Parts: sequence; structure tokens; C-alpha cells
Amino acid sequence: MVYQQSAKEEIKNAADIVELIGQFVQLKKAGRNYVGLCPFHAEKDPSFTVSPERQTFHCFGCKKGGDIFSFWMEYHSSTFPEALKDLAERYQVTISEGFSGHKERERSAQRDAVFKINEKAAFYFQEALSHSNVGKAARAYLGRRSLPKEVISQFQLGYAPDEWDGLIEFMRREKIDLDMVARAGLIVPKKNGGYYDRFRGRIIFPILDLRQQVVGFGGRVLDDSLPKYLNSPETPVFHKGEVLYGLHASHKAVRETGRAVLVEGYMDLLALKKNGFQEVVATLGTALTATHIRRLKGYAKEAVIVFDSDEAGKMAALKSLPIFSNEGLSAKAVVLPEGHDPDTFVNAYGLDRFSELIDRAALIFDFFLDQKLAKKDPDVEEKVRLLKEILPVLSGLSNNSHRSLYARRLSERIGIKEEVLLSELRSFEKDRSGRAFQTRMKGRLTDSKVEKRFDDLHLLNLLIHYPDAASRLVGCDWKILLSDSAVIEIVETFFRKYSQEGPFLPQDLLESLKSDVAREQFREALVDDAHYSEQEVDLAVAEIEEKAQEKKITASIKMAKGDVEALNQLLELKRNKDRKVLNG
Ligand code: GTP
Ligand code: MN
Repeated sequence: MVYQQSAKEEIKNAADIVELIGQFVQLKKAGRNYVGLCPFHAEKDPSFTVSPERQTFHCFGCKKGGDIFSFWMEYHSSTFPEALKDLAERYQVTISEGFSGHKERERSAQRDAVFKINEKAAFYFQEALSHSNVGKAARAYLGRRSLPKEVISQFQLGYAPDEWDGLIEFMRREKIDLDMVARAGLIVPKKNGGYYDRFRGRIIFPILDLRQQVVGFGGRVLDDSLPKYLNSPETPVFHKGEVLYGLHASHKAVRETGRAVLVEGYMDLLALKKNGFQEVVATLGTALTATHIRRLKGYAKEAVIVFDSDEAGKMAALKSLPIFSNEGLSAKAVVLPEGHDPDTFVNAYGLDRFSELIDRAALIFDFFLDQKLAKKDPDVEEKVRLLKEILPVLSGLSNNSHRSLYARRLSERIGIKEEVLLSELRSFEKDRSGRAFQTRMKGRLTDSKVEKRFDDLHLLNLLIHYPDAASRLVGCDWKILLSDSAVIEIVETFFRKYSQEGPFLPQDLLESLKSDVAREQFREALVDDAHYSEQEVDLAVAEIEEKAQEKKITASIKMAKGDVEALNQLLELKRNKDRKVLNG
């Protein structure tokens, strides 16, 4: 025990808590301390604090805190003896036999045993893959999927021979207790005694954690038999809802670029890596969890999710919105052309095309609306249906500014007044059955005079609150967006006055307006609060420009209907062209 205590002290002396935690959490200096987003609870503003002086951390949100050992145990869901061992290794401190309680020792020993077995199994699978006969078909398969040797060895891919007891025999030779191998999920007990290998005739993808330890495995068949993929079951070290495949190899790139691209499958990740795209992780077919995202935000500023182009993909996008929003990680999404996944896409079109697509990713809410509204202008029935999908999601957002931002977007996109939407959201929260909602909403939507005038009001609002920014719009085709003649008069007069005299007080515009309706409209707008915060102005201006351009190319878009790739290209083309016009 004395020895342990001194080992603990020695490690503490060798380690720097800011450097250590900084590897898992993005820390910023704030006075004497460092702060970051807490990896242990959902938060948007950093309340996780690390003190270099005291060598401790504390979260003002969830109240977790302590020294490097507490951090390590909490972050890696591990026991004290494991933390001691990991950190001793890291800081090259020798430790002798363990102390701590019986239970903890036992749990620790079990996890340790599973890790060891996994490592041995990974070795066995790798050997099988490189074996001249046994691995022949598997190597051929990987060749057909165009995975080169470097990627295969970097990710320690292997092959589980098509036998019932290949791994069992190997473990026997290694003198490993088969009960423990079963605990590791690698072999399965038979009804009347004995075991059989779980993975047979499959390509093996070891899943590594951030400590480069094998936590579990995925296995793919070589043909089209089912199930296509098989994963390790839950074990003392493997929890599907927590693991991100590839993070161990991608976290540096994610931190450097600030973004993490999320794909679904092993092969997607490996294909991207092979093509040189580094900041990628895979979710292995499970739904995104808060734990996934908490992990990611230690490295990423934003996540870009690559979704399937099907209905399920759209819904998945919408469903993930509250998780991201509540965790405070900005999320974008893209969809690949129909029939493609990241693997086939990057292999067919190359790194540049993939990167371009990712660079153009839309915020996830816009993405969902784009996908939903791509086909045609929605009729009332469709709007109601769409709102029924979206309101529950909006109501799940704990972040009020996100809520109102999305409500505003939604109101713009489907032409319902923002106030109406927000009050609808409140009623929805009182009456979730939605029947009353349906009738009420329909009434409001068919009242067509209601709200065709979103662009008008937002543009007006921008001019009043941010005249300098708004004056940048003079060169764009803003008129195409406006439907109200009074607003058109106001905007025209505004731009004229602005170009003649430069900046002026908004209220001074009143006397220059000719018609009564325009003056009335403008007075009303003058008392309206800013729709956009200072930070949102540039985005708003860009959005208006973009919208105007988009409207102009509606015809081309219609021709490209359904072809997402073509659509994206058209938009990009148009944007570039207009950028040139504006700049030149
Ligand atoms: P390839 O056909 O090898 O390119 O796989 P894919 O990744 O394109 O397949 P898919 O999009 O069908 O699946 C994505 C991910 O979901 C896979 O990488 C697996 O992690 C998981 N998955 C797919 N099929 C199964 C299955 O049958 N069982 C389980 N447990 N997971 C699966
Ligand atoms: Mn695939």
C-alpha cells in the first residue's frame, strides 16, 4: 500500500493535468485556469475547469471533479487500479501489486483479462488473414473492395476462418480460460456444454479505444449471406452506444481540422482513410447517442454527418438534431447521390469530390428541410404533416436560442409567421395528442394572406438594425424575393438614400417615403426588435443573397429534380458566378 501511494504521487508529479485532459477535451486558457466543454454532461457553455496550479479539475455544471486519476476513471469508465496502471505506463512509473477494494480489484481484473483476450484474438485473426491458404479468399475479398495493405495493417484487419473452433483451439494453446473468452464475447456457450466461435468466415474489424486497446470486433461475411455484419456483444469493455470506430486513428485530424465526419460503416471509414480523408469516424449502424457526441466534442468544433438519401436518413437527421443541440456541438449534414455510400462514392469520384461535398454541408436543420421540400412547394396538408414531424423535435431542444433560430428558419421556409409557430410550439407542448393542432394549423395555413412576407420583413428588419451590412445587398437581386410593394418602395428608397449620403438614422428614411402604406409599414418595422443578433448578420446577408440566386435558378433546379449531385453543382456554379460579379 505504501508502494502504491508513492506510485500515485510519482505519477502526479510526472503528469501535467492540463496536458493530459487536453488530449480528450478542448481546453482554452481563462485567467489562471483552463476551461472546456464538460465531457461528462450535456452543456453548451464551458463550465469544465482545469486548474494547473492545483492539478485538479472541476465542473461547475455537473460537479464532477478531482485529480488526474478521477478524470481517467470517469472518462474511460475504468476502475482505479486500471487508471493507476494506464497512467503509470504513460508516465513510466513502476507500480507493484494492487491495493483498493476487493470488488474494484475484481472488476478491474476482469476488464484487464478481456482486453488481453481481445488483443490475442486480434492477433489470431490477423495471422489468419495473412496465412497463405486460410486467408486467401479474405485477401481476395479485401482486394475487390480495393483496400490496400497499409490500411489493412493500420487498422489491424483480420479474418476469422470458417471453423467452429479455430479461435477456441488457439485460446486453448495459449492456456486462456475459455469462460473468460466467452466473457469477451468471442465464443458462445453451447446448450449442452462447450463453446463455438462467434465469428466464422468473416473479415474482422477490431474496434480500438482511445488508449489503442481492442474493445470489441466487427465481422463481415465475404458474400451476401446474413447477417452481413456481426459485432461483439456488450462486454465489460464494449458498449455499442459509446464507441466510435476509427476515433483512435482520427482524433488528431479531427482536432486539427475542427470537424468530424460521421459515417455509418467500417468500410466507409476505411475507404475514406485510404483516399486520404482523415477526419472521419463511424457509428457502426447504431443511432447516435449523447455519449458519442460528448466524445467527439473533445476534438471537433462541428460534426458533418453523411446520410443515406432515403426517408430513414432524413428522419435520422432530424432526430439527431436535439442531441447535437443539447450537447452544443454544431452539426451539418450531406447526402450522397442515390445508390452511393461514402465507400463507393470516394472510390468512384475521389477525395476532392468528397471533400467538396463535405465543405458544402448544410446545417442539419436546413438539410432536413431541403430534403423534405426538395420536390415541390408543399401544399397545406404537407405543411401540417411536416410540422407534426418537426414540432416534437423543436420542443426537445433545451437551448432557447437554437429553438428560435430553427423556428425562424422554418417560418421562412414554409411561410408561416414565426410568432404563430412559436405559439403553436407552446400549445403542442401542452397538448401532445396533436388533434387540436391539426385543425388549428390548417386554419392558419389556409388563411393565405397570413404570411407570404417573411423575406420582406426580415430584409426590412436588417436594414433598420444593421444598415451597413444590409447595404451590401444593393448589388443582389433582392427584389425577386419581395412580394410587398410597400416594402419594395422602402428598400428602394433606402438604397438610394444610402448611396447618396452614406449611413443615416433609420427613422430619417420616413420623410423620404412617398406612399402612406410604405410609411406605415416602415414605422411598424422601426419598433420591431432585431431578428438577428450581431453574429448572425453576415449569415443573414449571405442567406438573402443566396436565396435570391436560388430563386433565379428555380428553372434549372426543376430540371435537375431528384438528382442531388446535379443540384449541388448547379448551386455551386451559381454561387461562384455571383461571387465574381459581386467582387469584380
Ligand atoms: P458494406 O456492404 O460492407 O459496404 O457495408 P456498409 O457499411 O455499406 O453496410 P450498411 O450500410 O448496410 O451498414 C452500415 C453499418 O451498419 C455496418 O458497417 C455495420 O456496422 C452495421 N450493420 C450493417 N448490417 C448489419 C447487420 O446485419 N448486423 C449488425 N449488427 N450490424 C450491421
Ligand atoms: Mn458500403
